[in-house]
Amino acid sequence: MRVLGIAGSPRFCSNTDILMDAALKGAASKGAETEVIHVANLNILACSHCDACLRSGNCMFTDDMQKVIKEIEQADRIVLAAPIHFMGLPSQVKTMVDRAQSFWVKKYLLKVPPLAGSRERKGLFVTVGGRTGEHLFDGALATVKAFFATLDIKYAGMVAFQNVDARAMVLDHPEMTDEAFIAGQKLVEDSPAVARPPPTC
Ligand SMILES: Cc1cc2nc3c(=O)[nH]c(=O)nc-3n(C[C@H](O)[C@H](O)[C@H](O)COP(=O)(O)O)c2cc1C
Repeated sequence: MRVLGIAGSPRFCSNTDILMDAALKGAASKGAETEVIHVANLNILACSHCDACLRSGNCMFTDDMQKVIKEIEQADRIVLAAPIHFMGLPSQVKTMVDRAQSFWVKKYLLKVPPLAGSRERKGLFVTVGGRTGEHLFDGALATVKAFFATLDIKYAGMVAFQNVDARAMVLDHPEMTDEAFIAGQKLVEDSPAVARPPPTC
């Protein structure tokens, strides 16, 4: 089983990178092969809503989005890790998500499978926010679910922590990395991922 980590934070030594790595280690402990891509290092143009994809299902732009899709096509499981920025996904990740529009056209308008290969794919969302609040993750989660659904990736749960702001501070909270590790194990074991309610101190 192949697990792809999509690291969405633009920050070096980021909390979500560390949690994603823990989830991938969990998956690897169950025999999975893992691979990571960092969205912030990729060159992905923003969707221009030119509607070219409406006819063919193909995007006019040639850039690193094709690489992202190829990696997803080769994966059985996806761990998408991204912090909360202004109540949603970081702009780099949102740009990647918006470029799934041509796959939305394929799936919902042209009625063809969005991705090559017929394997079952499942996706875990790993996130943190610096603040607290009942609805802190709602916006990002809705976008991630739409992205996964468009690419026929079954949503398998979320690992989310509030009040996580300082760089790499999750390293001081082994309960957080432990939860991510277990979620990574469950992701490849076909069980629903554990999603404890986030702490609200
Ligand atoms: C541009 C920007 C916007 C942010 N917006 C929010 C926000 O709306 N809510 C929140 O709880 N934290 C917000 N944060 C804080 C980050 O979620 C927090 O620092 C987190 O730990 C970053 O995760 P990372 O280390 O994985 O990048 C924001 C940070 C930045 C840089």
